[in-house]
Order: sequence, then structure tokens, then C-alpha cells
Amino acid sequence: MRTLKVLFIVTTLASFSYPCWAQHHVHSAVSSPAIVAQAVPAPRQGAKPKPLAPSRASPPAAVTSMRDMHAPSSFTLRSGIANGRMVYIGVGGDINGMVNPMLMAHAGEAVQINLINGEGAEHDIVVDQYIARSDRVLGKGASTTVSFTADKTGEFTYFCSVPGHREAGMEGRIRVTPGPRPAVAATAADIVRDPTDLPGRINARPPQIVRVDLKTVELKGHLDNKTTYNFWTFNGKVPGPFIRVRVGDTVEAHLKNDETSIMIHSVDFHAATGPGGGAEFTQADPGEEKIVTFKALVPGLFVYHCATPSVPHHITSGMYGLILVEPEGGLPQVDREFYVMQGELYTAQPFGTQGDQEMDYEKLISERPEYFLFNGSVGALTKSHPLRARPGETVRIFFGVGGPNFTSSFHVIGEIFDRVYQGASLGAMPLTGVQTVSVPPGGATVVEFKIDRPGRYTLVDHALSRIERGLVGFLIVDGPNEDELMHSGPAKR
Ligand code: CU
Ligand code: CU
Repeated sequence: MRTLKVLFIVTTLASFSYPCWAQHHVHSAVSSPAIVAQAVPAPRQGAKPKPLAPSRASPPAAVTSMRDMHAPSSFTLRSGIANGRMVYIGVGGDINGMVNPMLMAHAGEAVQINLINGEGAEHDIVVDQYIARSDRVLGKGASTTVSFTADKTGEFTYFCSVPGHREAGMEGRIRVTPGPRPAVAATAADIVRDPTDLPGRINARPPQIVRVDLKTVELKGHLDNKTTYNFWTFNGKVPGPFIRVRVGDTVEAHLKNDETSIMIHSVDFHAATGPGGGAEFTQADPGEEKIVTFKALVPGLFVYHCATPSVPHHITSGMYGLILVEPEGGLPQVDREFYVMQGELYTAQPFGTQGDQEMDYEKLISERPEYFLFNGSVGALTKSHPLRARPGETVRIFFGVGGPNFTSSFHVIGEIFDRVYQGASLGAMPLTGVQTVSVPPGGATVVEFKIDRPGRYTLVDHALSRIERGLVGFLIVDGPNEDELMHSGPAKR
């Protein structure tokens, strides 16, 4: 007697207001792996702090082959027309371009089938024997996901249950083979954005046009030491590149969706005023480039993120970043600036499971994350890229929450923020002497403090249970651990 475990999840898309986007594909000749975050050179900070550690050269964003980009039990199908018939067409991996491809799974695997609406008619996907049925996708570019545990072996049929579509050709087979899949050595990229990877402050200059290049890249990355995840990114890192402009600048954003992408992507700048923050103008098919230009009217630190349905799926997968709009005259000089963002991940397997992880849509929409992360992965800011400063220096942290769902109570253990720009408003006076700052998803803050003594300070969300799910960073200040400000034992009289 087999227990039928069916994990049935759907992505609801119809409610989003991005009706359709052009099918026009632009195949750019640009093949350079170099990705320019901000084409306009920004001067480094005026003060020249001595480098603390050998600078770490970030490897270029790895553009892996399709084969590496998804777990073997994850498939993507696009609805389309082939030889006058209505069909499913395989996207990526071994099934790329195949009509109604045979989907190969092994017993016990969590199978996920993504369905992208390729031509605009209404579709879904059903695997009867697993009682797995997706939501219907309406409108070209919309997508949905169905998943189930392959606990029965044999050959089964998947098909579209919209009347007439199965007969018209939308039918294929899925084969579940007994025994586990042979292990495949997978390569995974380092997707961590170094917290020191941000342009220097803008010295006094008149407003100008600033070109920003964002490339949306889907790639398998390290979520933890022996754990990988299929991240969706801006420029191959989480968070996306730090964009720095001044109030009055005109931002010309080029969004290039990599040719190897499976999903449509876009960008919504919270710094912009206009429909969807630019999302309506930037829905880009794989291989396509879209451009949106907007005026930075209001100074502040703003989140940007992908806004292609299902939006929380794109955000949780890593598609968020910060754009700083400096006020007239700029920000006060500090010795060091850091770029940190918080987000959550909703994996099917529990926190700490090794191997390749899949997103669990049911957990995503019911807000039950397995991971909380600074800069994209477990240990990003403790092991691979801790923040470093020297005693006496002034530090500024640009902190944002991609989310998509959880508010951060941002705190640095052992420090007090001298100045906090609440809500990341740079038009208002900063608060002084603050311990913890509440930062909502899709929001940010700017905090500044002087490093009064050496020590190892710990970046946390003061909802401290989240440390146990990966959310912790270090600010390391080398020097003696005993001084007048704090020392072990009684006061020296
Ligand atoms: Cu996206
Ligand atoms: Cu938003």
C-alpha cells in the first residue's frame, strides 16, 4: 500500500497587472562576461582607508549551461504550436526544444514542472496519477508550477485539461524509474555580493544621465557549503549591483535578460516615479534587452527588484538590490561604506539539508521560510566576506530588505548607531543614538557609527531565532579587547 503524497502548488498570476509583453527577441552580439554595474565611473571615497585584507577578485558571473541550472527533477515546459498542433515544448536541460518531451524522474524525487504560457491561450498541466494539477495560466508570459513526490514508478501522462487541448496535442509522458538517480557532480557559483562592492560617493557635480546595466542571470549557486540553489539574480550576485546616483539624475536602465534564462524578468525601481517603477517597460524575454529611463526626483536609499509574476518567487530567488539617490551636496564623508541586504528562502527540504534545493511555492505563499540570509547565502558575512574596519573609523551601512515577506529588526550587537536615516529618507534629519532599526520588505535604512573600540561586532536581525536559519554577519575590528570603554572585571579606580 503506497501512501499518495501529493504536494500540489500553484502560482496565481492572473491577478497581476502585467498583461502581456512583446514576443520580440533581441539576440545581442555582446558575449563578454564582464558586467558593468554602472557605466559612469564614480570616484572612490575621498578618504583613503588602508586596505585591510588582500582584495578578493570576484569571479565573473558564471553563465552555466542550461543543464547545470536546474535540479534534474525540475522541468520547464512552454506552451506553443508545432506542426500546426498545440503542444508543450521543453525549455532547458535535456528536453530543450523537444515537443511534448518525456520527463525522466526517479522514485522518491520531488518533481517540479514549471509551465510557461508561450502564446497566450489558456493552459494548465495535469498529471492524473499523482493527483497533481496546476493553476491555469492566462496571458503570454504567465507561468505556474505543479509539484509532487514521485512515489509511484512507471509511465504516466501529463496533459492540458482545457477542453480540446489534450486532443489538439498537449500531451506527454513522465517516466518514474525505480532507485535513486546517480549522483551528478554539479558546479555552483559564488553568488554572494561582497559588502564592500559598491561605488564611491558622488562628489559635487551637476545632474547627468547615468546608464545602468542590469543583466538577469539564472544560475546554480552556493546557498551553503554543501547546499546549492537555483538563484535568479541581477548580474550573477545577491543582492544585485549597488546603483549610485544623485538627485536630479536621469537613470537610463538597460535590462538584459540572459540568453540562457528560462523566465521572463524585469525591474521595478522604488526610486522611480511611473508605472510599476519601470516594470511595465522592462519585461524581457530570454535574450531580450529592454530599456527604461526615469528621473531620480527624491533623495533616499531605495530597493529595486524583479516584478515579473509570480513576483515573490522572483524576489526570494535573489532578484533585489539597492539604488542610492544622494541628496544635493552628497552624504557626509565616512571611512567605510558597506552594502548588506536581507532576504528569505523557501526550500522544500528543511534548513541545513545538503545537496541541491528546490523552492517550495506552498511555503512561499504561506510565509514559512527555511533560510534567512544576508547577501544571498549562509555564512556570506561571517566566513567568506565579513565586514572589516579599524578602530576610530566611521562606518556607514546601506541596509535593505528584499524579503519578500519578513521585516528586519536590524541591529549590530555591541554597537549603537550614532545616526539612523529612518526609512532611508535622506531628506530628513537622522535619528541619533539608536539600537535597532525596523526595516520592512521593500524598504531600507542607512546607519552610521564610529568604531570606538576593537572587537568582533555581530550584524543580526534582532528576531534572533533567524540566526539559526543563517542570518548573521560579522564586523571585525582588530585590536586589543580590553580598554577603558569595556574591560573584564571591576572599574579601575
Ligand atoms: Cu525575475
Ligand atoms: Cu516593490
